[in-house]
Amino acid sequence: MRRVLAIMGSPRKGDTWHLTQRIEAEMKLLGDVQFDYLWLRDADLATCRGCCACFLGGEERCPLDDDRAEIEGRILSANGVIFASPVYALGMTALMKNLLDRFAYALHRPRFFEQKALIVVSAGAAGVKMTQDALASVRYMGFDLSPGRVGLAMLPKPWTRAEERQVEVRTRNAARRLFRAMERKTRPAPSFMETCYFRVQQAAFQANREEQPADYEYFAERGWFNPARKWYVDVPVNPLYDLIARGAASAVRRQVVARQRALSAEAGEK
Ligand SMILES: Cc1cc2nc3c(=O)[nH]c(=O)nc-3n(C[C@H](O)[C@H](O)[C@H](O)COP(=O)(O)O)c2cc1C
Repeated sequence: MRRVLAIMGSPRKGDTWHLTQRIEAEMKLLGDVQFDYLWLRDADLATCRGCCACFLGGEERCPLDDDRAEIEGRILSANGVIFASPVYALGMTALMKNLLDRFAYALHRPRFFEQKALIVVSAGAAGVKMTQDALASVRYMGFDLSPGRVGLAMLPKPWTRAEERQVEVRTRNAARRLFRAMERKTRPAPSFMETCYFRVQQAAFQANREEQPADYEYFAERGWFNPARKWYVDVPVNPLYDLIARGAASAVRRQVVARQRALSAEAGEK
């Protein structure tokens, strides 16, 4: 059974819900799909306090005792994840941003490699692309964003037939892309930025073993420090991207080492 988790960033059942429900209906025409909705407005997910305990010591050190771990489990057991948010002040809603903040540790320790993600954004007029781009940061948590995005300025009803048709076509296409992506066992090669992100993390976390033990252990356990490893999971990587990424990683490594030397020399002077 294919499972989709729709994460709803709006505080109401309005336009993004309408779009997501249309996607659900279209996907169900294509095959067996189970839809589960996570309404962030109802979730027990407190606002990040900024202590950075999750980055440094591991997410289990987060002082907030709420549904964060359960939500992570729900995401991991889905094959497809929809991030649905209206545009608020030219960005995603605070509810959705808080979800990303609370899962920011997954940007250090990516894990959602099996999940195909679709971004759904609705607006009154402006800010769809900015919001979609900000939501696309989930790619660095491991999500496969090949299903792409759907974004619409939703005019007040009643809609003209052309407007109605536009919503139909866009949601149907998005549903097909997500469905097909969920059928695929493989994932596309990482982009240039994704390739650089891996190599830079590899260099930075190895050099910062003392300062970032949780990141170090996570990478070490998975064999991700092996220089022959080109990305988190075994996918073909563009050799030119990898060459440039290794150059960027070397620069980061030199910078970290130079900083550590400067700090120990300054400590010795005292
Ligand atoms: C606080 C707030 C801020 C908004 N800011 C924008 C904005 O910057 N750009 C825009 O086009 N629409 C903006 N809107 C309109 C919503 O994005 C739009 O109505 C959206 O379709 C609502 O989705 P929903 O019904 O799922 O909540 C805003 C709405 C609210 C309530």
